[in-house]
Amino acid sequence: MLFFKKSPKESTYDQFDIIPEHIAIMMDGNGRWATRKGMPRTAGHYAGMQSMRETIRNCYTLKIKYLTLYAFSTENWARPIEEVNYLVSLPQLFFQDEILSELISHNVQVKFIGNLSRFPESIQDIMQKAKDLTSMNTGMVLNFAMNYGGKAEIIQAIKRYAEENQNIEELDEDLFEKYLYTKDCPSPDLIIRTSGEHRLSNFLLWQSAKSELWFTKTLWPDFDLYALKEAISVYQSRKLEAISN
Ligand code: IPE
Ligand code: IPE
Ligand code: MG
Repeated sequence: MLFFKKSPKESTYDQFDIIPEHIAIMMDGNGRWATRKGMPRTAGHYAGMQSMRETIRNCYTLKIKYLTLYAFSTENWARPIEEVNYLVSLPQLFFQDEILSELISHNVQVKFIGNLSRFPESIQDIMQKAKDLTSMNTGMVLNFAMNYGGKAEIIQAIKRYAEENQNIEELDEDLFEKYLYTKDCPSPDLIIRTSGEHRLSNFLLWQSAKSELWFTKTLWPDFDLYALKEAISVYQSRKLEAISN
């Protein structure tokens, strides 16, 4: 049984309480997936995009309230120019009309975190359109982390705070969070990283303070419903253990 360690009868709490409200995923391993198949790295990113679509569907079907996907980091600009160009063009491939219609019909709200101003205007327009067309939706919040870096996020928060406030003494953790890109979003309950790496790679540095971390060797293009349920199941076991202790 994937979602319950105990039968609902044995449980003294609502089983739905232990579904993670916010899952954040570091979608890693596209390059290795392609190389192992003798294909160019860009083919791995294309396959990764398909896996992203599947995971989004799986998450709204499982009634996850927030899903954050690390799609492009501030460090990723340092990759070879051909690869960067391909990665930067992916929103155009991803946000096709069918996907937008699907997201709208499933009540998904698309948002972006990161400094989008570095992307070409045509790509910024595509992201803005996805955001605008889904802004009235009230279901799952789907955050794409694009040109996102946890350090850059904290620095921009400090700068904006200093611009807007005279009194540094008033600054506390709750107030600081209002200056982060994620201001309207709870911290992730569960952070997943694929491909066998065990790093945060500048992802959600502030917000990950209390998150459960789960790592899998599965490469991102192979990440499927089974892998997602395994991650959620491990999360639930940890929470159940904490409750029973
Ligand atoms: C993740 O896959 C995608 C991005 C970082 C954009 P990688 O491209 O990092 O794949 P590996 O880690 O080299 O296999
Ligand atoms: C993390 O993966 C960034 C994304 C998944 C977008 P990377 O492959 O870029 O990170 P490092 O280089 O292994 O730290
Ligand atoms: Mg990688």
